[in-house]
Amino acid sequence: MTVHFIGAGPGAPDLLTLRGRDLIAASPVCLYAGSLVPKEILTHCPSNAHIVDTADLTLDQIIAEIAAAHAANLDVARIHSGDLSIWSTLAEQTRRLRALNIPFDVTPGVPSFAAGAAALSQELTLPHVAQTIILTRTSTRSTPMPPGEDLATLGRSGATLAIHLSIQNMDQVTGQLLPLYGPDCPAVVVFRASWPDEQILRGTLATIQQQVQDSGIDRNALILIGKSLGQPGFGESYLYSTTRDRTEP
Ligand SMILES: C[S@@+](CC[C@H](N)C(=O)[O-])C[C@H]1O[C@@H](n2cnc3c(N)ncnc32)[C@H](O)[C@@H]1O
Repeated sequence: MTVHFIGAGPGAPDLLTLRGRDLIAASPVCLYAGSLVPKEILTHCPSNAHIVDTADLTLDQIIAEIAAAHAANLDVARIHSGDLSIWSTLAEQTRRLRALNIPFDVTPGVPSFAAGAAALSQELTLPHVAQTIILTRTSTRSTPMPPGEDLATLGRSGATLAIHLSIQNMDQVTGQLLPLYGPDCPAVVVFRASWPDEQILRGTLATIQQQVQDSGIDRNALILIGKSLGQPGFGESYLYSTTRDRTEP
């Protein structure tokens, strides 16, 4: 018996990996994280699968479901949105499973920042313009940021920022970044990248807060800030350069 943690991708059902699909099809128990995992993904479950939406469950209740499957020797597909390496609650679940000696494995998924960049048809790293992307979020009352990880500190790097879980904190985002990136810095919001109701707001640090307010977007959105989002004037990469020595190993 194994618990398969599976990243379901950003929303479009066909952005699930083949491995994820096959593990879901082979697991008689499926626990999925409600609102951000599309229902179509559940069509891969066996027809008689025990399927549970964990959106309203506590960690104790989720672990109890898994422990019951373990006692019955039934594999579990544990499905989360995007990829499991960021904001997935993988860590707290696997800590409990280790303590209970319940085996598990992890299958990656397409993260929302990659789906957001794809929605924009945009590369986030541009030669000589931007070579670093910071995946981050802002503080909320329930989840404060650790010291040194606030936007005012991270923004000093000038890196491209992919800010998650923060669409309701636009005042904090623009307030901390305007002095560092300037009012003309490109700022983009992607709401529900890859879902049928995907929306893109393109603006600048000076305009994006008002654009978000006017749009009514208040959840499931990614904020991308940085020079690479607006620059046509970047150089070409060394990889495909005519000056590169192609005999190099
Ligand atoms: C709990 S986190 C999950 C992140 C996920 N594990 C990932 O790999 O992207 C939820 C946040 O991710 C972002 N997000 C998730 N799916 C998204 C999508 N399809 N489009 C835009 N942002 C998304 C939003 O910032 C949302 O508030």
